Amino acid sequence: MVQDQLGRYLRDIRISVTDRCNFRCTYCMPADIFGESYKFLPRTEILSFEEITRLTRILVKLGVVKVRLTGGEPLVREDVEQLVAMLAQVNGVGDLTMTTNGYLLPQKAQALKDAGLQRVTVSLDSLDDEVFRRMNGNRASVQKVLDGIAAAERAGFSPIKINAVVQRGVNDHTIVDLARWAKEHGYIMRFIEYMDVGTLNGWRMEHVVPAREIAERIHAVLPLEQAERSYRGEVAMRFRYRDGSGEMGSIASVTMPCCGDCTRLRLSPEGRLYTCLFGTEGTDLRGPLRAGATDAELEQIIHDTWTRRTDRYSEERAALTDDLRARRKVEMYHIGG
Ligand code: GTP
Ligand code: 5AD
Ligand code: SF4
Ligand code: SF4
Repeated sequence: MVQDQLGRYLRDIRISVTDRCNFRCTYCMPADIFGESYKFLPRTEILSFEEITRLTRILVKLGVVKVRLTGGEPLVREDVEQLVAMLAQVNGVGDLTMTTNGYLLPQKAQALKDAGLQRVTVSLDSLDDEVFRRMNGNRASVQKVLDGIAAAERAGFSPIKINAVVQRGVNDHTIVDLARWAKEHGYIMRFIEYMDVGTLNGWRMEHVVPAREIAERIHAVLPLEQAERSYRGEVAMRFRYRDGSGEMGSIASVTMPCCGDCTRLRLSPEGRLYTCLFGTEGTDLRGPLRAGATDAELEQIIHDTWTRRTDRYSEERAALTDDLRARRKVEMYHIGG
């Protein structure tokens, strides 16, 4: 078990398996920047399934128990279910899960379940088709994502979590509908405060709807009571519906950050380790990996990266000037949240 400079253990790895995505969410990959001519990473530069699995085995030795696959959109990585099957075989991985936009779930859900994926979280920002299309760069209808969620349910994933990024003046008038729909279907809705990840989305504090306000707006229609976090370091504040019909969460990474409990490490598609969602440089693992480093050498690099870690960006954000906030940060589609 390794501890960083602030006494935090390494428990989770979020693995971004591709920098590509079939959506163009305005807050992540705005279509005017990620157009036809945008150069994504070539195949040879992204880690192979064998490389990812080898690194995961080493990460488990250092304390990781939870693995989440992200992207870009993880399901656009060809044969990603094979990677799931390989990771499911790694001793010590207690939770194997994925965050997806749901578009390809009708084709992939059963294969993912059979390969050993334990949970899925699907992103869906609104049930209003016009609002949703505006947010995803007109790449998908609400129905398409609902079909994906239904496929995940048929394949036996339970409970299914739904992520919605809330932006004031964009989709915040549709949050109660989302909450009601999720409650009726037994999905766990999670509303996420819009964050200043990366440098491309033109984030402004005025666009953030505080998690507290989100919960109050839902509570006014569907009465809630606050519930305990299910585990230390969980990013969501949890609420139960008073009528006993399930729970929802809101993720206050801007207004009430909890960096103090942050046990997450992130691996980018080309094999760089980031110790924070708001990291800048990352630590290269692919170089040593492809130059023939032993497991012990790789373990040492990861160990040193974690033990040097001092990140607490979300807690420092309020004190930062615009200039500092705008320094070159890794983009969301590169490390998947
Ligand atoms: P569970 O394992 O089900 O608790 O899910 P999760 O919260 O780990 O995963 P998910 O990918 O669904 O994350 C939900 C939202 O929380 C995303 O917007 C993430 O970017 C955000 N988030 C996750 N981890 C962190 C973090 O370490 N820091 C910050 N600031 N936000 C995070
Ligand atoms: N702020 C908050 N959440 C974001 N996501 C992507 N970009 C942002 C942002 N700027 C969400 C995705 C997905 C999760 C992994 O992160 O919608 O649900
Ligand atoms: Fe794709 Fe997810 Fe980014 Fe939207 S938020 S563009 S679905 S990676
Ligand atoms: Fe962890 Fe960085 Fe998010 Fe804080 S801002 S919770 S340190 S990833």
